[in-house]
Amino acid sequence: MEKKLPAAIPAEELEKMEHYAALLAARADELVARGERRPRALIETYGCQQNVADSDRMRGMLELCGYDEAESRKDADFILFNTCAVREHAELRVLGNIGALKHEKEERPGLVIGICGCMMQQEHRVREIMEKYRHVSVVFGTHTFYKLPELLYSALEGERRAEVTNGETAIPEGLPVKRSGGDRAFVTIMYGCNNFCTYCIVPYTRGRERSREREKILEEVRSLAAAGIGEIMLLGQNVNSYGKDRYEDYRFADLLREIDGVPGDFTLKFMTSHPKDLTREVIDAMAESRHVARELHLPVQSGSDRILKKMNRHYTAESYKQLIAYARERMPDIRLTSDIIVGFPTETEEDFEATLALVREVRYFNLFTFIYSKRSGTPAATMEGQVEESVKKERIARLIEVQTEIRKQYYWEE
Ligand code: SAH
Ligand code: SF4
Ligand code: F3S
Repeated sequence: MEKKLPAAIPAEELEKMEHYAALLAARADELVARGERRPRALIETYGCQQNVADSDRMRGMLELCGYDEAESRKDADFILFNTCAVREHAELRVLGNIGALKHEKEERPGLVIGICGCMMQQEHRVREIMEKYRHVSVVFGTHTFYKLPELLYSALEGERRAEVTNGETAIPEGLPVKRSGGDRAFVTIMYGCNNFCTYCIVPYTRGRERSREREKILEEVRSLAAAGIGEIMLLGQNVNSYGKDRYEDYRFADLLREIDGVPGDFTLKFMTSHPKDLTREVIDAMAESRHVARELHLPVQSGSDRILKKMNRHYTAESYKQLIAYARERMPDIRLTSDIIVGFPTETEEDFEATLALVREVRYFNLFTFIYSKRSGTPAATMEGQVEESVKKERIARLIEVQTEIRKQYYWEE
């Protein structure tokens, strides 16, 4: 029996998107008929693979609008920044880049500049752009990116518009796509996140978990496989909760097995897995598969149970290590990777050493290390005991050193 289903973009919205795309395409054709060049667009994508996947859809829509791809900012008639809000550094880079375009816009008033993605799901950032970055005229969030043609059209008519909604919005099914990944394709299996790790902005920028329909995913995989794609990467903030919002008893392990049955020569990967939700069934499905790569990205974030609890992660260092032990038992050659945050509020030297101990014990093939960054609106931002910047820097350097040693040993073994 199926549950209350997360909705796809309504047909009338898709029609509206196509309507504005057709108006823009007619405009582009007129330019060409007058002997001018076809308008060109550039999307600069920041952040995670989910943004890359969204940008592929937006490039598909821009193609429908009659736009060619620009090679650089100078070459573009429309520049769109698809942004990330996960750490302050990512936000500042985008703001810097947009600020730098002010002169370009003065010199070329016809240039349209837009900003979308996770940063625009934060009210204070939308306000900041609308008030202080007046050379930006197209603003939309992660839930409304299918409105790109309409907003671009409005901008060419001289309007500045921000279209941002919150909460659970439609699954972007039925949009054109122009893939950028070469021999690798991203296939989103679910949107959003319900985990609310206390440091993380993603549940606020991406809304609640929504699984795509199983048949839609399989269709996409089949057509990619038939076209001879080399690698398929299944995407979700937490792929292991796939299906929970949609099916009674169809889960990620079932999806993995079904996709594995699709004929073709592709390698199958997925990210990201949350340790609290990664089941032995998924590990079994990996071990028994033909297509799934022997790689597992399993972010641990910290090796200290006290910090894990404050992060709202719902596992312990011990339960995490047991999961890894099972994965290695089933697949001795598996390559493990992880994300770690140093300097989470109240992290002591002892907590940090527990992280180092875990890293030494697990021996990751690769590690993505981050200095804790305060995200306004998240619970950790207002916790007592924020760690000094200098301490964070010293800890991340020590962590990287430990990991570099481990990685060297991998090369000696190869
Ligand atoms: N859903 C995925 C990815 C989340 S973002 C997951 O759960 O793993 C990718 C990584 O960014 C996280 O794993 C975390 O290590 C890091 N990150 C998230 N918020 C952060 C913050 N406020 N400061 C520093 N690093 C952060
Ligand atoms: Fe952020 Fe946690 Fe969700 Fe990952 S699982 S996106 S870290 S809240
Ligand atoms: Fe960044 Fe949004 Fe991804 S905040 S990490 S681009 S989901």
